[in-house]
Amino acid sequence: MPTQEKTRPGSNDYFGALLDMADEIEARYRSLTPRSKALFDRAGAVFPGGFTRDAILRAPYAPFIASANGTRMHDVDGRTITDLWFNATSLPVGHAHPEVVAAAASQLALGSAYFAPTEHELALGELLLDRIPCAERIRFTNSGSEAVMMALRFARAFRGRSEVVKFEGSYHGSYDDVSWSVAPKLDQIGPAKSPIAAAETSGLVCSAGRVSILPYNDAESLRAYVTQHHDRIAAIIVEPMANRMGLILPDREFVTEARSLCDRFGIVLIFDEVIAFRVDYGGAQTALGIEPDLVTLGKVIGGGFPVGALAGRAQILGHSTPDRTAGRVAHAGTFNGNPMVGAAGHATMSLLTPEVFARMNELGSYVRAELRLICERLPLQITGAGSLFKINATMQEIRNYRDAATANVKWEQVASLALLNDGFMLTPRLAGCVSAVTKQSEVDAFISAFKRLVAV
Ligand SMILES: Cc1ncc(COP(=O)(O)O)c(C=O)c1O
Repeated sequence: MPTQEKTRPGSNDYFGALLDMADEIEARYRSLTPRSKALFDRAGAVFPGGFTRDAILRAPYAPFIASANGTRMHDVDGRTITDLWFNATSLPVGHAHPEVVAAAASQLALGSAYFAPTEHELALGELLLDRIPCAERIRFTNSGSEAVMMALRFARAFRGRSEVVKFEGSYHGSYDDVSWSVAPKLDQIGPAKSPIAAAETSGLVCSAGRVSILPYNDAESLRAYVTQHHDRIAAIIVEPMANRMGLILPDREFVTEARSLCDRFGIVLIFDEVIAFRVDYGGAQTALGIEPDLVTLGKVIGGGFPVGALAGRAQILGHSTPDRTAGRVAHAGTFNGNPMVGAAGHATMSLLTPEVFARMNELGSYVRAELRLICERLPLQITGAGSLFKINATMQEIRNYRDAATANVKWEQVASLALLNDGFMLTPRLAGCVSAVTKQSEVDAFISAFKRLVAV
């Protein structure tokens, strides 16, 4: 089981040295990527802002990728980039794995979508039910966001209550009811123990009666709130690895409290494992030893194709059976359970044996340990678990959103661009992961590049 490793932050204030080089680093990036720049300019006339997916936005523009294999991506400027984010953690066996390609190619030749079920979706569903402790039934969606949207619908229908408890700083995709207090401005969110819900985007109607925001990792605030308001709460949704807070695992006390409050007051506990599922063979719930009532999935289970799923107790998901007369939950989707996704997803998940997980997580521990050594005397902190890691430009120990928000974001972004110049792709905020095909030599090369970078 991956454990939360704490780092000992240093105390020097040295961010300015790299920030002084920001223009130089950007100029170098521009000189390396003229074709990406030309495509980005062209895209500006097609997509608002030149892109169609917020998460891939990076300054001054992202590299356009032409192809990828294993751990290597090739951009349109002919550069080779070692991938350390794998489409937001969704490719645990790397790009174009031969077994995944074979599975997808053979299905593609037989047709990519039918107005009928296939054995592929069934096989992937069976595999997931086998691995995930809470999963008695499963339904596929096309994205993690849709899975979350459906999980809230099922929970509300099951309980006949409307409010959902969400934690400040957690990202659960783009559905309106979870688009509150994801990365809010600190001066707009009130006291730490009773945060004000802040809209993450324009276009939301209101949070009142639909979602309430509580601090992550704060069992006491959770207990106080739920004890008082349980009769209106349908669900508590927890990210059992908080991505935007630095890929941190929750404290055991916090999730144990969430589980027991849900049991006591008949509330549906949802684990959003869209990312966290990759921490263990049976997902984060196996790693934590706590079963939710519903789990939302995405990313790794689709073999690189668009996917999502929600799984959990038959009693809750049974609300979608056609024979149900009252309180039936509608769930449609042209591409739900698509055979391409089923074939590629099943091939990918079959490659992820317990031994492969163990090796991948060991490499993740190695990266975190090496980065920690480098950061020992610097105001940088390494977080993460399993195969995931994050470099945080803050000395504040991170347990929740407000801790994570103390990071020097600009430093992280400049460092990320400098690493991209050296041929390593992490997120602009320096989150990364290794895959089952990542080699020791590749992580060593990355660690050396990071060491050179922080020595400036
Ligand atoms: C925890 C979590 N939930 C939901 C989502 C949304 O998934 P998707 O991007 O497939 O809609 C994400 C995406 O990163 C996520 O990290």
